[in-house]
Parts: sequence; structure tokens; C-alpha cells
Amino acid sequence: MSQTVYREIGGREAIENVVEDFYSAVLADDQLVDYFEGMDMHALRAHQVQFISSVTGGPVEYAGADMREAHAHLDIDEADFDAVGTHLERALRENGVAEDAVTGIMSKVEGLKAPIIGA
Ligand code: HEM
Repeated sequence: MSQTVYREIGGREAIENVVEDFYSAVLADDQLVDYFEGMDMHALRAHQVQFISSVTGGPVEYAGADMREAHAHLDIDEADFDAVGTHLERALRENGVAEDAVTGIMSKVEGLKAPIIGA
């Protein structure tokens, strides 16, 4: 069996580092920070780690809300979605995730655009 992307990119520890860097960048971005005002960032980080682990084939179940439901009340537009995607892509690269794995993960993220922006 081929190795999962989860293992290839360094498993739980690598994904925790990616998620840490990702939210630091998002919260430092004036375009995005207001969406996260008052949110439980600890829970959000934990869910994001689960989510990325599960889409990369890790031994982890995502236990959060459906992506459309989780974002419906936020009224996110496409430009803000793309800005978040760019922060995620950069965090993956900066943590040494190989280019083909970055491409694979980002194509899954792109597939979430419609539900997340409520299209
Ligand atoms: C790029 C793809 C995205 C993924 C994979 C993603 C993933 C997630 C996950 C797993 C949760 C947790 C849901 C739960 O706790 O049940 C969540 C919640 C949230 N997301 Fe996203 N998200 C994405 C894009 C965005 C964007 C573009 C924004 C805002 C610009 C955003 C803002 C939020 C906020 C504020 C919450 C917390 C909602 C709440 O607790 O009421 N997300 N997201």
C-alpha cells in the first residue's frame, strides 16, 4: 500500500505546526481577523488539525461540524476564502510539505469553496 500523504508530510506533529502557523498568519491579516473575533481558537485549531489529518488519510476522524454549516453564519466572500487558502498554502510550504502534497491538499480545499462561501 502506498504511504498516505499524512505520513509523508510528517504526521500529527507536522500538521499541528502547519495549523499553528496558518492561524497566526490569518489572525495577523487585517482582511480576515474580524471573522475570528470571539471564536474559541483552541477548539478551532483542534478541529482544523483533525480536518487536515482526515483529508490527508491520517488515522483521525474529523469530529466537527459540516463545512457548509460551520461557515454559514459568517457570510464569507470569495476574496476572503482565497486569502485564507493562500495562508494555508504558505503554511504547508513553510513546514516543508512537498509540492505534490501541497497541490493535492489545495485541490481538496478548492473543492470546499462553494459550501464555505455558501454558493
Ligand atoms: C480554506 C478552507 C477552510 C477550511 C478547511 C476550514 C475549516 C474549518 C473547520 C474544520 C472549522 C471547525 C468547525 C467546527 O468546530 O465544528 C471551521 C470553523 C470556522 N472557520 Fe473555517 N475553514 C476554511 C475556510 C474559512 C474561511 C475562508 C474563513 C473566514 C474568512 C473561516 C472562518 C472560520 C470561523 C470563524 C470558524 C468558527 C465558526 C464558529 O465557531 O462559529 N474558515 N473552519
